[in-house]
Amino acid sequence: ARRVVVLISGNGSNLQALIDAQSFDELGGEIVAVISNKADAHGLQRARDAGIDAVVLPHDEYESRDAFDGALIKVIERHEPDLVVLAGFMRILTPRFVHRFHGRLLNIHPSLLPAYRGLDTHKRVLADGGEEHGASVHFVTEELDGGPVVMQAALKIRPGDSEESVVERIHAREHLIYPIAVRWFLEGRLQLGPDGPTLDGMALPPQGMR
Ligand code: GAR
Repeated sequence: ARRVVVLISGNGSNLQALIDAQSFDELGGEIVAVISNKADAHGLQRARDAGIDAVVLPHDEYESRDAFDGALIKVIERHEPDLVVLAGFMRILTPRFVHRFHGRLLNIHPSLLPAYRGLDTHKRVLADGGEEHGASVHFVTEELDGGPVVMQAALKIRPGDSEESVVERIHAREHLIYPIAVRWFLEGRLQLGPDGPTLDGMALPPQGMR
């Protein structure tokens, strides 16, 4: 089976969606390890409950970003993954790390990229009076939240929406699209070519599948 390593920092609801997909034989591979930079991440428990190797690598025990990323690369490579999945992993990765896993590193970001890169996306969309919001799965490149988009799910902002109500709807969509993108990759249908991502050999549109 194709091997997946998932990196998390927190609740791990996206990890759970991937675990659930795997349990229905719908992931296209096996999650062989979950790594968290935070010891108290709830996602670690989700991994253990599913019988998956759960590893803590506390970033604050390393003297530099590069030292942490070096250690992270080592732990990941021990598990020989075909794909590395960032699922609420809240650390910026060094170019060295990103290059090492180029073409096999996916992230999910809570906005309709290229809009609202970075943190606090829901707050910023609401503050701007935005009408549309969503989530994007993308390949990770050196540019923060700037890698090519594979898939997006959009939602309309409703009158009276709060950060909480928006987060809930975003999460529901993330949990739908991330397992699909991971499966496409593991089945060899999704690739990062020299001119961008392809699905079944055809170039994806700039906003990915919607
Ligand atoms: C998700 O909404 C994900 O899009 C976001 O963190 C949340 C993690 O939730 N990721 C980022 O903001 C990346 N910069 P989860 O831990 O429940 O999967």
